[in-house]
Amino acid sequence: MLQYFFGLLYLFSVLLFVTLTGSQADECPLQLNPQRVVVKYGSSVSVNCSTSVQHKGMGWESSEGAVPMTKDSLTTWRVSELRVWGIEPSCYINYNKPQCAVNLLVTIYKTPDSVSISTVNHNGPMMERNQYELQCDVLNVAPVQYLTVNWYKGQTLVNQTIFTDTIKTPVNKTSKLLISPVRADDGAQYRCEAKLELGEEGPRPPPTNTSKTLNVEVYYKPKHSSSTETISKTKEESLNCTVKANPAPTYSWHSEHLKETISSSVIRSSTLSSGNYTCIATNSQGTDSKMFIIISTGRTTFWAIISCGVIVAVVLIIAYAIYKCNASPNSVI
Ligand SMILES: *[C@@H]1O[C@H](CO)[C@@H](O)[C@H](O)[C@H]1NC(C)=O
Ligand SMILES: *[C@@H]1O[C@H](CO)[C@@H](O)[C@H](O)[C@H]1NC(C)=O
Ligand SMILES: *[C@@H]1O[C@H](CO)[C@@H](O)[C@H](O)[C@H]1NC(C)=O
Ligand SMILES: *[C@@H]1O[C@H](CO)[C@@H](O)[C@H](O)[C@H]1NC(C)=O
Ligand SMILES: *[C@@H]1O[C@H](CO)[C@@H](O)[C@H](O)[C@H]1NC(C)=O
Ligand SMILES: *[C@@H]1O[C@H](CO)[C@@H](O)[C@H](O)[C@H]1NC(C)=O
Repeated sequence: MLQYFFGLLYLFSVLLFVTLTGSQADECPLQLNPQRVVVKYGSSVSVNCSTSVQHKGMGWESSEGAVPMTKDSLTTWRVSELRVWGIEPSCYINYNKPQCAVNLLVTIYKTPDSVSISTVNHNGPMMERNQYELQCDVLNVAPVQYLTVNWYKGQTLVNQTIFTDTIKTPVNKTSKLLISPVRADDGAQYRCEAKLELGEEGPRPPPTNTSKTLNVEVYYKPKHSSSTETISKTKEESLNCTVKANPAPTYSWHSEHLKETISSSVIRSSTLSSGNYTCIATNSQGTDSKMFIIISTGRTTFWAIISCGVIVAVVLIIAYAIYKCNASPNSVI
């Protein structure tokens, strides 16, 4: 038992010794509050440096806002308009060991002067399935290490570029997006967004600047959802060849029953005789045809006559039965 007690005591003393001497050997007895600052270029900043040990003097070394040595236990680095990119202030202390110092981490940021979106080497409508390049230019932003460019199509994030350069001064950056538009993308709205994600000490929400929207126009050929449609002659229906396409298509109807070609997108069935009618929709991107089959009503009439006959027969039988029932008592009397 006693052995254990002394063993533990020894362990604790060793730990205590290591902690005390260790901390005094490797660590400077200074506390910075806060330890890291994120400052908007040109705005104010202040950081406290304090100690709890006896000392012969402490102060701030800095290209701006340096504080001369003081005997106090707290000294404040303060700049009212910080305009020195890459400033590296440090707080130092003289005590029983040689002088030691702690560096303050300063991040100075600047939101971009502009964020603009454009199409690379192209103007006007895009062709379906061709590849195009969109470009986002972010001017005069710092530090790019914290910059993210987000690409949006409508409300959807489609891609993201992050930058890894460690340069601290403002620079221009470009991000590119490759797109292969399809017909559904006609009218799509693209934009890019430059976001400075400066970490916990940074502003919330992160400073964000967005480009204008770029409207994409896509040219695509007409394409009917079905290539044939059957229409009954008795029904008052339309032969509707209307189809989506960009640019808007032109129409032409062909049939042995038509004396001349018709160029509207819809024709009424009532004026037509049964048979096949083909409509061709055409624009600069291509052509698509659709056949309408108007069926004769012959069979329908046949069955209508049969059912009419059956109904008439049934009615006659019932009428005869009623007549019989009513007539019988009379005949007895
Ligand atoms: C720095 O110290 C001063 C004086 O003690 C105090 O008023 C101030 O709030 C401190 N600032 C920070 C950032 O802790
Ligand atoms: C995003 O962009 C990168 C680089 O341009 C590219 O390699 C990647 O395929 C893109 N991702 C998507 C989903 O488009
Ligand atoms: C960024 O681009 C602008 C305009 O094109 C130019 O005036 C400026 O010098 C550029 N800045 C840098 C750091 O290259
Ligand atoms: C960029 O966004 C910040 C806020 O996030 C705003 O203060 C600044 O004016 C914007 N810059 C431009 C050029 O719109
Ligand atoms: C023809 O179809 C189009 C789309 O499919 C529709 O917008 C239009 O109203 C239709 N026209 C007629 C006369 O039914
Ligand atoms: C009409 O189209 C149908 C189906 O394609 C075909 O079987 C029929 O022979 C065509 N009729 C005429 C008169 O061309």
